[in-house]
Amino acid sequence: MPDNDTAKDASDYALGIPAPKHAFFLKGLDHVDWGMKDRLSRIFNPKSGRTVMLAFDHGYIMGPTSGLERMDLSIPPLIEHADCLMCTRGALRSIVPPTANKPISLRYSAGSSVLTELNNECLLDIEDALRINASALAVMAAIGSKFEAKTIENLVRTADLGARYGIPTLGVTAVGKELTRDARYLALACRICAENGATFVKTYYCETDFEKVTATCPVPIVIAGGKKLPENEALELVHKALQEGAAGVDMGRNVFQAEHPVAMIQAIRAVTHDGRTAREGFELYQTLKNTR
Ligand code: R5P
Repeated sequence: MPDNDTAKDASDYALGIPAPKHAFFLKGLDHVDWGMKDRLSRIFNPKSGRTVMLAFDHGYIMGPTSGLERMDLSIPPLIEHADCLMCTRGALRSIVPPTANKPISLRYSAGSSVLTELNNECLLDIEDALRINASALAVMAAIGSKFEAKTIENLVRTADLGARYGIPTLGVTAVGKELTRDARYLALACRICAENGATFVKTYYCETDFEKVTATCPVPIVIAGGKKLPENEALELVHKALQEGAAGVDMGRNVFQAEHPVAMIQAIRAVTHDGRTAREGFELYQTLKNTR
C-alpha cells in the first residue's frame, strides 16, 4: 500500500482542459469494445489504416496446394513481413513459432474440401481460439448457396462469441462456382456479413464498380488475391483495390506461389503501407528478387 503520510497533495487537475476524445481509426468500428480495438490495432497498422495479411489456410480445403507443400519451409521466411497471419490451428501449431508474436486470424469454420461441394460447416471451439490468443475469427459466409443459412448462422454465432471475448470476426465471402463475382453480388455478400456482426470482411476485387462494394460495406474490407497472376498484375490488383476503398489485403497464392515470395510480400507492403504505385511496387519486387 502507498504510504499515506508522505503522499503529495494532488493539485494538477488541469481544470478547463476537456478530456481528449479518440475516434478509432477503422471505419464503422468506433463503438466496439477495448479488447477488440486492441486486436484490430495489431492486425491493421494504425498509421496507414491498412493491413497486409498473409493467408495460408488453403490446406483446410485444398490439401497440399502449390507453394504450401512444405509450409514449414515456405511460410517462416514470410512471417516477419506480414501484419497478420491467416491460418488454421493445425498450421499454426505445426509451423508458426509463437515467438513471431504476430496477430492470428484463425480459420474458425470448416467442413468442406475440394472433393465435395460446399457443405454443412461447423465452428471450432472458442476455448481453442482463446488458447492460441487469436486476434480474429475467420468464418466463411456462402451467400446464395444451398448452405447460406448454415454459414450465416455460423457467422452470427462467431460474432456473438467474439463480442463476448473481444475478438473480431472476419466474414469471408465464399463465391460458389455458379455465382458471378461482380460488384452487385459482392456488395450484397459483404453487406450481409457486416450487418450480421462481422467486424471486417474479406472478399474479392472486381474490375467494375468495386468502389460500390467498399462504399456500401460499413466496416473495413480486405481483399483475397485469388488465383496466381503475374506479379505485376497482382500488384496492380492490390493498388486498384486500395484506391477503391479496400483497407488491405489477405493474400495467399499471389505471395507463396510467386517466383520470389519474400520479395513479393515486401512489394505488396510498399503498395499497401507506403503509397507506392503498382509500377513502383513491381520495380521494388524486381530489385529485391535480384539481390537475393
Ligand atoms: C481460401 O480458402 C482461403 O480463405 C484463403 O485465405 C483466401 O482465398 C485468400 O487466399 P488467396 O489470396 O490465395 O485467394
